[in-house]
Amino acid sequence: MTTPLIIDTDTAQDDCVAIIAAMSDPEADLRAITMVAGNVGFDQQVRNAHLTLNALGRLGEVPIHLGCRRPMVLPWVSAENVHGDGSGGLRIDDTDLPTETEHAVDALLRLTAESPGELSIVAIGPLTNIALATVMDPDFPRRVKRLVVMGGSNNGRGNITAAGEFNFYVDPHAARVVFEAGFDVVLVPWAPLTLNDAVFGRERLAEIAALDTPLAHFFGRVCETTLAFDESVGIPGTTHPDSLSVAVLLHPDLVTRSSRCHVAVEADSALTRGYSAVSWGVHGLAPNTEVIEAVDADRFYTYLRDILAVPTTPNRTYSTPVVSSSAEPS
Ligand code: RIB
Ligand code: CA
Repeated sequence: MTTPLIIDTDTAQDDCVAIIAAMSDPEADLRAITMVAGNVGFDQQVRNAHLTLNALGRLGEVPIHLGCRRPMVLPWVSAENVHGDGSGGLRIDDTDLPTETEHAVDALLRLTAESPGELSIVAIGPLTNIALATVMDPDFPRRVKRLVVMGGSNNGRGNITAAGEFNFYVDPHAARVVFEAGFDVVLVPWAPLTLNDAVFGRERLAEIAALDTPLAHFFGRVCETTLAFDESVGIPGTTHPDSLSVAVLLHPDLVTRSSRCHVAVEADSALTRGYSAVSWGVHGLAPNTEVIEAVDADRFYTYLRDILAVPTTPNRTYSTPVVSSSAEPS
């Protein structure tokens, strides 16, 4: 029995790896990719999604729906300083590659109405599309089997500010709507979970590069800019919260510790914009989220490594060399 899912994404770096996992794992049945404003320029995110499907040799196999090109209230904030263009500079001729005419929010509403209670959503970018679907149709949360959200921190440090993790910071109003809407939410936070259990250091990156497959080379290229940024801020490797979000939906036994908490997101304060307040029993707030606190980090790494080891035949050749410089040992 496979898991039908939609990935809502601001496709860059680890979002690409999340799509690779969802397209490669036999447990997964990826029904659609919905695009939301986040990491890098919106049109570049679409190119990155095509590049990812191309690396898999699966161009055109999954519908890509274009969603919100800016947050609900605040202006868009870029993470290009972290990810570059999110593709490591890879390019293919994508001028003829289609995206769906149906808006991502309409697709989220339609697909969950066609299969109520069956589809899960892995939201790995700002929550603008998810929030607008909820505002348009209050029955939407009930139709979603499980909503896995990558965002926020578990009463911990942010990454774009001291308090704000990027996805929640970019659209805190959308995050507030989503956590108040009644979804069955699983939260994959930035801190401490991602920093503890989803960082791949140079030794593991070299092991992946040594696989010498198209997916391993693609992984190296899309991650190399983020590696440089991460090491510059004291993170000893590339971060993989988005692909972890797909992995925990498909393989919940990866989770070694989690707790039911009430999560609320700050949208009014400039200082703590996007902060996710995670309240446990003593505060008397009804839990609305399963907050993941720890996963089997080694199993998660080998899960992704084994996926990247599978040989694929990219549909189109790159107009740039594909082997990553980060394949070089430190
Ligand atoms: O803070 C990390 C999150 O922000 C990841 O989803 C990354 O892709 C960016 O969207
Ligand atoms: Ca993302």
